[in-house]
Formats: sequence, C-alpha cells, structure tokens
Amino acid sequence: AGRAPLDLRGRPMRDLRISVTDRCNFRCTYCMPKDVFGRDYPFLPQSSLLSFEEITRLAAAFVSLGVNKLRLTGGEPLLRKQLDRLVSQLAALRTGTDEALDLTLTTNGSLLQRHAAALRSAGLGRVTISLDALDDNIFKRMNDADYPVSDVLRGIDAALAAGFNDLKVNMVVQRGVNDSQIVPMARHFRGTRVTLRFIEYMDVGSTNGWRMDEVLPSRELIERLAAVWPLEPVDRDYPGEVAERWRYADGAGEIGVISSVTRAFCSSCTRARLSTEGRLYLCLFAQQGYDLRALVRDASVGPAQLAATVSTIWSSRQDNYSEQRGAHTAPKQKIEMSYIGG
Ligand code: GTP
Ligand code: 5AD
Ligand code: SF4
Ligand code: SF4
Repeated sequence: AGRAPLDLRGRPMRDLRISVTDRCNFRCTYCMPKDVFGRDYPFLPQSSLLSFEEITRLAAAFVSLGVNKLRLTGGEPLLRKQLDRLVSQLAALRTGTDEALDLTLTTNGSLLQRHAAALRSAGLGRVTISLDALDDNIFKRMNDADYPVSDVLRGIDAALAAGFNDLKVNMVVQRGVNDSQIVPMARHFRGTRVTLRFIEYMDVGSTNGWRMDEVLPSRELIERLAAVWPLEPVDRDYPGEVAERWRYADGAGEIGVISSVTRAFCSSCTRARLSTEGRLYLCLFAQQGYDLRALVRDASVGPAQLAATVSTIWSSRQDNYSEQRGAHTAPKQKIEMSYIGG
C-alpha cells in the first residue's frame, strides 16, 4: 500500500468523512432550513447513492493511502437502511500499520435508541451526538421538526448502555438563539462519561442566512463557563484535532470548543469528504467535488487505480477557506452541510 500523500500545503490525508444520505428527519434552521428543504426538495434518488459495497471499496482505497479515521455522517446517517451492515464491512478494513482504524458516527441521536446495540456489535468504535439545547422550546425551535430533548437523551443513554465509551455531544452555538443553554448543557454533562463540545456557528452552505453577529466566539464561551466552574487548558490529543480542550478544575471532566470561525485550523486539516453520491470534496467549503462514483462503478478499475486517483487529487489540494474567510473571498455557491456531511 502507498503511504499518505501530502497536499500542496504539506498536509497528509488522515480522515475520511462519508455521507451516507442527504436526508434528515430534523430541519435545523442553521443546516436544512424548512423553506429550502421543504416537501418538494429534490433529494438524491436511490440510484445515485453509493452502495455499501462501493463505499467500502472506496474507503479501502483511502485507508491504503494512510487514512486511519472514518466518520459516517449525513444528513442523518441512521436514516440509511441497515447501516450496521456498512459498519461491519468498514470495521473489517485494516490500516496496514499496527494502528487501529477509528470508526465513528455523527448522529442527531433521535434514532439511536433503536440502533445503538446493533451498531456496537457491528464494530462501530465511537459515536458523536448533536444536541443544541436542554430546553425543549429552544431545541424544537432549532430542529424545527418537533423532536423533544428526551428523544436525544434516550439515544445517549442507549449508546452508553451499548458500551460506547468515548461519547461526545456537539452543540452548535448561535448567539441569541441557544447561548442561554451553554451553562445548563455544561451542568448536565459535567461529571458524566460524555464530553460536551461547543461549535462556533459556521457560514457553511448558502441557505442558512449566516451572520457573523450570531457567532459566539469560543473565547467568550470559555469566559462564561469559567465564571461558573474554573477551567484549565488541556493539550491536544492528536495533531489535527479540531477541538481545543479544557478541563474543569474540580475534576468533573472535560469540555471542548471548536473555533472554526475565530481560530481557523486549516493548517492542520487532514480531512477528506465523500458525498452521498460519491463525489470527493477536499474542504467543507469546496465548490466542486471530484466524481469517484463513475470510477468505482467501472469494472475495469481496480483498487490500485482507485488509490492512485485519490492520491493525485489529494496532492493538488490547496483549500484553506476558514483562514481566508471574508466578504471578498467567500464563494457564492457553497455545498450544503447535509449533502457533504458534517
Ligand atoms: P473527534 O474524532 O471525536 O475528535 O471528532 P472531530 O474532532 O473530527 O469532530 P467532529 O467530527 O465531531 O466534528 C465536529 C464539528 O466540527 C463538525 O460538525 C463541524 O461543525 C466542525 N468541523 C469538523 N471538521 C471540520 C473542518 O474540517 N472544517 C471546519 N471548518 N469545521 C469542521
Ligand atoms: N455551523 C456549525 N456546525 C454545523 N453543523 C451543521 N451545520 C453547521 C453550521 N452551520 C453541525 C451539526 C452537527 C454536525 C453534523 O454539523 O450540528 O453537530
Ligand atoms: Fe440534520 Fe444534523 Fe443538519 Fe440538523 S445539523 S438538519 S440533524 S444533518
Ligand atoms: Fe479544512 Fe476547509 Fe475546514 Fe479549513 S475550512 S479546516 S481546509 S475543511
């Protein structure tokens, strides 16, 4: 197997995020606003989706090039039927070094109670759950699909019961919308086996009407929390980790902040993204992807050629959108997060 190609900024490819569906049962206002993603929204037809076999063959090519972390996303990945079958196929991939493959899932948690045990036995390593508020009114206003907080909390409990340890909860913070929930969320997850992480609201996609004044800088968030519970910084776990970590001085565990707006981390960005229909995107803010589906559906193309193609594409990568964010450089038509995968 070839080794990790470097892109034009010297960054290796380490992490592949795979979107398994562009659909979601939520309509988070910052991601899939209802007025755009309405009843007649043209979601991808079944025939456009990569099959589990195609995803696995592509993932194997990435793994042979040095990728050691696979994350299943969407849309809501648990809407894809029999996802545990895909998980067992991916769990069987080997990295070629003695490094284990980190196989993980990002979900809104609403269907997790039903699926946690099967995913665990299929070989899923970790789960990250999105939850933006503890208050039902605020949460329902944000998911805009009438899901109560209790559904997600039950999903979290089911994941813990199924044996998932490294559980993370991601909260997107929007000033004036759910910043009142920062302290209640921290209080709820302090001292549990769950690590809470706060994400700065990003200008991803072009449908959510993002405005800078709705971003709550992580700096300010940490100050607000530290006023209640003193915090100490913790070193990063691994190079390229997106979250900055803090621990409660009283020993009640850790939190993280993901500052994609105020402290861009492009210089260590090792992530590639595979869309539901098999297009490869090299940045969350990329305007164009590379079609890998035609290749993986071509019977004359073997594993070595797949890997060589991916390697060539990665080698030409230059993206660093978040480092140059600003009115003059922002592309007009951006890919939606629900399509490319969070
Ligand atoms: P762990 O392996 O659990 O640490 O996960 P992670 O650090 O990869 O974080 P996760 O995949 O849970 O991503 C959390 C959030 O960070 C995403 O939903 C995005 O909002 C944001 N994020 C992750 N990767 C990127 C990235 O490459 N660029 C930007 N701008 N934001 C990102
Ligand atoms: N800004 C920040 N995070 C976002 N997510 C979706 N849209 C945005 C945005 N505009 C997050 C979700 C979830 C993950 C899949 O991506 O909340 O945690
Ligand atoms: Fe669905 Fe996640 Fe987007 Fe919300 S943020 S609409 S749960 S994909
Ligand atoms: Fe990576 Fe693009 Fe995000 Fe920068 S903006 S961290 S290059 S995905």
